[in-house]
Amino acid sequence: MSGPLDVYLYIHDAILREVAELELAARELNGEDATEVAALADRMAWFHKMVRQHEQAEEEVLFPAMNERYRFVAETYKFDHDHFEDQVFDGIDAAFAGLARSNGNGERKDHLRLLHRQNIALNVHMKLHISKENELLIPKLEREFDIEEQIAIAGGMAGMFDPQLMGETVGFMYRGQSANDREGMIRFLMNVLPEEAFGGLAGMLEGMSADDWSEMQRRIPELSA
Ligand SMILES: [Fe+2]
Ligand SMILES: [Fe+2]
Repeated sequence: MSGPLDVYLYIHDAILREVAELELAARELNGEDATEVAALADRMAWFHKMVRQHEQAEEEVLFPAMNERYRFVAETYKFDHDHFEDQVFDGIDAAFAGLARSNGNGERKDHLRLLHRQNIALNVHMKLHISKENELLIPKLEREFDIEEQIAIAGGMAGMFDPQLMGETVGFMYRGQSANDREGMIRFLMNVLPEEAFGGLAGMLEGMSADDWSEMQRRIPELSA
């Protein structure tokens, strides 16, 4: 597919890349290194915040629109969102809290094991949830809504992010993206954001890598205007 909802696939791709990396990071974490533990805890806390914002955008914009045409579909996705909180993220928080206060090696091992287990769960559950959204929900959406409506939905979901989190999330997506996806994401943002907000994001992306940015300028001449 290629259309306004591509951007919705991009955020899903970025989430899936991150949960796979987090699983490895949790497995390899050195529990005795407090700095390393704190860095992973921060990375996961940010990820959780971003995912909650993404879910909230789905629950407030996408699901209500879906529900008008397909009753009882959206609630199963919301159910997954809630399930992540108590079955996955609460355990991750508990593991980090345990690591922060544990002083014996044996106890630390238990918390590390829990952290790894919860990150495997996060990866597997997220993959299933996002595959359902990508393969079942999006095709229905594209069949039921015309292009203008799809643009309104994609723009409405993007508009749910506060500017700071939006900037961080765009940087997070851009880092792992192929050049084609970067181009698609930038074109989308150019269309939906006010000029000033887009300018701020563009400057941030340019600052991440001058080489990558010149490739974007080659592909999207309006960026140099
Ligand atoms: Fe979702
Ligand atoms: Fe999603």
